[in-house]
Amino acid sequence: MDPNSYSTHSLFSLFVLLVLSPLAFTQLDYRFYDSTCPNLTRIVRYGVWSAISNDTRMAASLLRLHFHDCFVNGCDGSVLLDDASSFMSEKNAAPNHNSVRGFEVIDAIKANLEKACPSTVSCADIVALAAREAVYFAGGFIYYWSVPLGRRDGTTANQTAANQQIPSPFEPLENITAKFTSKGLEFKDVVVLSGAHTIGFAQCFTFKQRLFNF
Ligand SMILES: *[C@@H]1O[C@H](CO)[C@@H](O)[C@H](O)[C@H]1NC(C)=O
Ligand SMILES: *[C@@H]1O[C@H](CO)[C@@H](O)[C@H](O)[C@H]1NC(C)=O
Ligand SMILES: *[C@@H]1O[C@H](CO)[C@@H](O)[C@H](O)[C@H]1NC(C)=O
Ligand SMILES: *[C@@H]1O[C@H](CO)[C@@H](O)[C@H](O)[C@H]1NC(C)=O
Repeated sequence: MDPNSYSTHSLFSLFVLLVLSPLAFTQLDYRFYDSTCPNLTRIVRYGVWSAISNDTRMAASLLRLHFHDCFVNGCDGSVLLDDASSFMSEKNAAPNHNSVRGFEVIDAIKANLEKACPSTVSCADIVALAAREAVYFAGGFIYYWSVPLGRRDGTTANQTAANQQIPSPFEPLENITAKFTSKGLEFKDVVVLSGAHTIGFAQCFTFKQRLFNF
C-alpha cells in the first residue's frame, strides 16, 4: 500500500471524526465565515507559516494542541484558558503542562483576525484551522482537509478530565484504544494520531521511561 495515500485518507477520516460528531455535523459549516471573514484561511495560513519558518517544531505542536483541545469536552478552545477562580486549567494538566505549545501562535493569529474581522472567529476554530495548516506545511502540501467551522469557545476548562481522558504514552494499547472508542473514534484513529506523534520533538523523560520498561 502506498503509505502516503493511506496517511492522507486516515488523516482526513480522523478529522472528519474529530470535528464532525453527529451533533456538530448539524451545526458546523464549511462556509461559516465566508461572508463575515473572507480572508480567514489566508490569515491563519500566514500565521502558521511564520511560526513554522521560525521554529519547524511548531507544526507538530499545533497539531498536538488541537488534539489535546478536542479530546477533553470537544474542540472548544478550552485548552487555551488559564487558571481561573472557578476552574483549574487544562493547560496545566499533566499531559499538557510544559509540553503543550503554540499558544502565542494562536494569539498572534487571533490578533490579526481581530483587525480583519473583529469579534467574529472563535479561538476553537483558529486552533482547528491552525492544525490543518501546520500539517499542510509539514507534509509537503499534500495533506489537506476541509475544516467545518462555527465552533463556539468554551468558557470553562476541566483539568481532571484532561488528566483522566488524554491518552498517555505509558498506557497499554488497550487503554489508549478504549479512550478513543469512548470519544466515538476508531482503532484507525489510534494509529493515525499515534503516527502524528512521529513528527516534532519529545522530552527526554519519555525515552527514559521506555528504558525502564524494556
Ligand atoms: C483580504 O486580503 C486582501 C490581501 O491582503 C485584501 O486586499 C482584501 O481587502 C482583504 N479582504 C477583506 C474583506 O478584508
Ligand atoms: C521563534 O522560536 C523560538 C523558539 O525556537 C521562540 O523562543 C521565539 O519566541 C520565536 N520567535 C517568534 C518571533 O515567533
Ligand atoms: C470534570 O471532569 C470530571 C472527569 O470527567 C467529571 O467527573 C467532573 O464532573 C467534571 N467537572 C465539571 C465541573 O464538569
Ligand atoms: C488500564 O485500564 C484498566 C481498566 O480500566 C485499569 O484498571 C488500568 O489501571 C489501566 N492501566 C493503566 C496503566 O493505566
